[in-house]
Parts: sequence; C-alpha cells; structure tokens
Amino acid sequence: MAGKPVKVLMVCLGNICRSPTAEVVFRHQVASRGLDKHILVDSAGTGSWHIGHPPDARAMRAALERSYDMSALRARQVVPTDMAEFDYIYAMDRQNLNDLLHICPDAYRDKLTLFLHHGNSDVEEVPDPYYSGADGFELVLDLVEDASASLVSLLAAKHDLS
Ligand code: 4NP
Repeated sequence: MAGKPVKVLMVCLGNICRSPTAEVVFRHQVASRGLDKHILVDSAGTGSWHIGHPPDARAMRAALERSYDMSALRARQVVPTDMAEFDYIYAMDRQNLNDLLHICPDAYRDKLTLFLHHGNSDVEEVPDPYYSGADGFELVLDLVEDASASLVSLLAAKHDLS
C-alpha cells in the first residue's frame, strides 16, 4: 500500500465539458472501489476563457441523469506547477496533449497520456461536445465511464492499492 496518494489530473480545452465529466466519473469509480484516500483527481483546461465558471449546463444535465453531480466544480486553467504536482495527467484529445507538451518540462513528459489510451474502444480522443447536440454529451459519458473503469484498475494494480 502506497503512502502518498496518487494524484490524477484530467485536462481538456475549456474545463467545462469533458475534463470535469472525467473528474466526477473517475472520482465516483475510485470511491466505489474504496480507494478515495489513495487516488485523488482534479481537472483543468488548457484555455482560459471559462476560468471560474461552473461546468456547461448540458454536461451537468447529462451527468446528473447518470447520478454524477458536477455542480460544485469550477473551471481552472492548467498551470505549470501541475506538471510537478500530479502523477498522471490525462488529455482528452490530441490538441490538449500537444498543448500540454509545450508547457511540460522534459522531466515530467512521461506523465502525459491520452485519456482514452486506457479505454476499450478504438476511439482515441474524447470528441469535443461543445458545439454538438445532446448525443455528444452522452458519447463523452460513455467513453469516460469505460476508460475510467480501466484506469482505476490499472492504478490500483500499479500502486498496490486495495
Ligand atoms: P471542453 O469543451 O474542452 O470539453 O470543456 C469546450 C468548452 C468551451 C469551448 C470549447 C470546448 N470554447 O470554445 O469556449
């Protein structure tokens, strides 16, 4: 059993749709495995437009229909100290990953991965739902639920958590 908690950061562009969804879903799955003292999760955006805003109302509605409450979350932008602070940083799409690579010191580059690298589907990126209809938000939840389940198992095994 590891001493220090494992810290995970979910990253998208605005931090109002995909990464806060990933934050609440992943946190829920961590808690349901009894690992909430051992795995901590936060989220942030590469962009600054929505700093301080609550999640997108459509994302909150879709999440609440699956019993995930996002209402307490507020958007923040990725800051350089996140690279040292977090053990794993998951980008929702390739653009997010590239943007993170630009600000990440070489020593921490191994922390950066596409979130869906851990999913079971062939989809590699969580599609940006901001300009989509309700279906886009359902797809985000489907992909995020799938990848989160695999990721919790992977981290639990890797860090000998139970
Ligand atoms: P997110 O979605 O990156 O999943 O939070 C977006 C939110 C806002 C914008 C784009 C994507 N925007 O252009 O304001």
